[in-house]
Amino acid sequence: MMMFFFLFVWIGWAIAAEERDWKYRLSVYYAKPQDSGTFTCATPRGITNSLVLHVAAVHCEPISVSGMHLTVRIEGTRLGHTALFQCPVGFRVNGTANLTCQASGKWSSRVPTCEPVLCPSLDGPLPEPHLMLEEHNSTYGGRAVFSCAWGYKLQGPPGVECELNGNWSGPLPKCVPIQCPPPIIPFNGHLIHSESAGMDGGRYAVGSLVQFACRGSHMLEGEASIICTETGYWSHPPPFCKTRCPYMGEPENGAMVPTKFAYEPGDELQVTCNPGFESPLGARPKCQQDGSWTIPLPHCTNYSQI
Ligand SMILES: *[C@@H]1O[C@H](CO)[C@@H](O)[C@H](O)[C@H]1NC(C)=O
Ligand SMILES: *[C@@H]1O[C@H](CO)[C@@H](O)[C@H](O)[C@H]1NC(C)=O
Ligand SMILES: *[C@@H]1O[C@H](CO)[C@@H](O)[C@H](O)[C@H]1NC(C)=O
Ligand SMILES: *[C@@H]1O[C@H](CO)[C@@H](O)[C@H](O)[C@H]1NC(C)=O
Ligand SMILES: *[C@@H]1O[C@H](CO)[C@@H](O)[C@H](O)[C@H]1NC(C)=O
Repeated sequence: MMMFFFLFVWIGWAIAAEERDWKYRLSVYYAKPQDSGTFTCATPRGITNSLVLHVAAVHCEPISVSGMHLTVRIEGTRLGHTALFQCPVGFRVNGTANLTCQASGKWSSRVPTCEPVLCPSLDGPLPEPHLMLEEHNSTYGGRAVFSCAWGYKLQGPPGVECELNGNWSGPLPKCVPIQCPPPIIPFNGHLIHSESAGMDGGRYAVGSLVQFACRGSHMLEGEASIICTETGYWSHPPPFCKTRCPYMGEPENGAMVPTKFAYEPGDELQVTCNPGFESPLGARPKCQQDGSWTIPLPHCTNYSQI
């Protein structure tokens, strides 16, 4: 025969039909310390089972909450009663949030405290060598804002926020080098790689300087050298190599007008001779499409020699 004992008020065979013949019940209601003792059950064959009952009033200490933010819901201070602790948003429970009054008369854990949620501090070396902290607040709702060293730009959002779970809202951004695309080489011109600092797969690092030169009679129009800037663009558009007729010089005893460093195709020059001198009739050099003059430099001749 198996025996099950429950709390005491009543001793007898179990009531349920299927248990009635083998289960004996001991129930104790409204137990008092006097109910303590050893209870033994014996079958007709002499098999016994004993139960030691110790009845005592269990009271855990009243819970007093002194922490600033901590709130508690206390079920009671009797055996098995619980106390549930909570912290406000932005704080986390440090310790056990759920205490139970134990048979020993002690709560199962110490009263916890509320600690502010803090994300891992980002002070100290950052995982990216070119990454720099602009702003750093690792409490809940605070943010960390980043920038990159000169010549680098951020890849990804520039900041992260400290979330309720104590994690930053995402991975830290990366710094990637700023690069300029290869510049356009002017037609009839070429690059002089005087200083192609950090050129990488056809792209140029910030600060790279490139210089252009024109071939043959072509003249450079625009900036002869350009620099890759922090924006990832060149400081100026690349120059053009234009067909130009060179300056002819001056005839003796005269001048060519207009005077320019170089002439565009179609430009026409006039000779003005000093008093007493004269140029051949219709001597007007014209700049041609191939960069050459229609006639060579005219002369101014002394009247008396004509
Ligand atoms: C949590 O509480 C323990 C014990 O009171 C304390 O030593 C520890 O510093 C606390 N932790 C935090 C993160 O405040
Ligand atoms: C608290 O702990 C008790 C005992 O472990 C458990 O029965 C109860 O469900 C818990 N309550 C909460 C809200 O976690
Ligand atoms: C950090 O961020 C929190 C949440 O936004 C804010 O309440 C707190 O004032 C900030 N602390 C500092 C030092 O700026
Ligand atoms: C914080 O992030 C780590 C790493 O991604 C993850 O393992 C952990 O579960 C997160 N913590 C919480 C409270 O979400
Ligand atoms: C022009 O030539 C004549 C004769 O050769 C000379 O006398 C005269 O000085 C010259 N005039 C000038 C301006 O050179």
